[in-house]
Amino acid sequence: MSESQSFPSFHSDKVGQGQQEVLISVLDQQAELASIQRMRSWASGALALRPGERALDIGSGTGSEVVAMAAAVGADGRAIGVDPNPDMVALAASRAAGTPAAFVEGNAYQLPFPDDSFDAVRCERVFQHLDRPERAAAEIARVLRPGGRAIVIDSDWATAIMHPVDPEIVAALMGPRAAQAPNRNSGRRLRGLLTGAGFTIDDIGSEAVIFDPAMSAPMYAAQAAAAVASGIITAAQADQAAAEIEHGIATGDYLFSVTMYAVVGHLA
Ligand SMILES: C[S@@+](CC[C@H](N)C(=O)[O-])C[C@H]1O[C@@H](n2cnc3c(N)ncnc32)[C@H](O)[C@@H]1O
Repeated sequence: MSESQSFPSFHSDKVGQGQQEVLISVLDQQAELASIQRMRSWASGALALRPGERALDIGSGTGSEVVAMAAAVGADGRAIGVDPNPDMVALAASRAAGTPAAFVEGNAYQLPFPDDSFDAVRCERVFQHLDRPERAAAEIARVLRPGGRAIVIDSDWATAIMHPVDPEIVAALMGPRAAQAPNRNSGRRLRGLLTGAGFTIDDIGSEAVIFDPAMSAPMYAAQAAAAVASGIITAAQADQAAAEIEHGIATGDYLFSVTMYAVVGHLA
């Protein structure tokens, strides 16, 4: 693996020039995955929005879930997506044109809303990008009214499988020295974070995101190139793993997955 590829980052401080299209395309491809759709459908049932409620999606990305929330709360309710990336906010607003879904720029660490503004909050695959997840959990509690509900969903990258790649190489690629996300094992921490922010936990769900080969091979190539550049694996290991992936995909003997966890809670 000789070519160097940069790994696009959803960290709000690290979105580089030209990466926006890549980020949007990654989110759109992931939204098509059956596993993401199953998790979203379960999450929506668990949050159980009712007509007239005020709902917030933190780190709303392309905004599709805000549009769904707006339909659930109806004309008397309010559904808002917040994201610190202005290009993402603009894209979400343009995709949601003609619906009551609204989008604002803002950061999970300091949400641009007064206390007690919402009945329900969702936050999907954002905490892994946060340096200060405790602060974000406290903000969710602050903007919810007493009795308000939250669902926080995130991956835990230590659960990643890239079969038939040597699990030790996969562990190195996904481990703490890999730089793609500051909070890579976010999934396992969500219950503790919400509990620490004062939530009573009502349920925990999980779903393994099963990636298509078309998505996984480029994802592996970018991760491996970054890992070689930072000395986490050798170029020879990266080349061997790339050959194993190619062979696995060609013969149908592959599995690329990572487990997402979802924690549902409410305030007293
Ligand atoms: C992997 S995307 C997930 C988007 C969407 N929630 C979904 O599930 O499709 C991560 C999102 O978190 C946003 N994000 C990154 N840092 C954030 C922060 N400090 N506060 C709120 N959102 C943040 C990014 O801009 C991006 O839209």
